[in-house]
Amino acid sequence: MNEKIAGVNLEIKQGDIANQSDMTAIVNAANAQLKTGGGVAGAIHRQAGPELEKACRPLAPIEPGEAVITKGYNLPNDYVVHCLGPVYGRDKPEDKLLANCYKNALELAEENNIASIAFPAISTGAFGYPLREATKIAVKSVVNKAQDLKNIDKVRFVIYTDNDLQVYQEIIKNI
Ligand code: APR
Repeated sequence: MNEKIAGVNLEIKQGDIANQSDMTAIVNAANAQLKTGGGVAGAIHRQAGPELEKACRPLAPIEPGEAVITKGYNLPNDYVVHCLGPVYGRDKPEDKLLANCYKNALELAEENNIASIAFPAISTGAFGYPLREATKIAVKSVVNKAQDLKNIDKVRFVIYTDNDLQVYQEIIKNI
């Protein structure tokens, strides 16, 4: 699925975030310590290799809503933007913190002259954010920022499961 908003191509694709070889940057659904983990963090660190954790060490810990950037090492991407999403029910206000992840990631990407960036569904796995609510925030945050993006011309949402893909498609259709 493909939409164009304020000159930015917005895509939804089913797949593995660590396998987006046509994108300049990918986003990690990180933990505060920027270490490897399950889900997205596990997939990214496995593919990037141990140099990624080493590069992350001096940048940690990060706060919910914050984003930091590293190189991609063995990933097919030049950069990884690491975002700490809110833990649903614990980090408040979770909607604002989740929106900050997308906003801060896009701003960092802009500053680094990144042309394309792929996001996973931050906070919707281990951190328990209900997918539909999180998706509305994700899409709205990107749409709100689209007109300020001069370097980024493609934003992709990489969705893991069939069910989650349907939710994203439905919400994007209604923007
Ligand atoms: N590619 C794309 N999406 C994936 C992948 C993958 N390889 N693996 C899982 N997902 C999806 C999940 O289905 C979920 O919808 O990404 C979404 C986010 O899930 P998590 O990776 O669990 O991220 P999050 O909820 O932000 O929790 C972060 O999990 O792995 C730990 O160390 C990490 O403590 C941190 C926490």
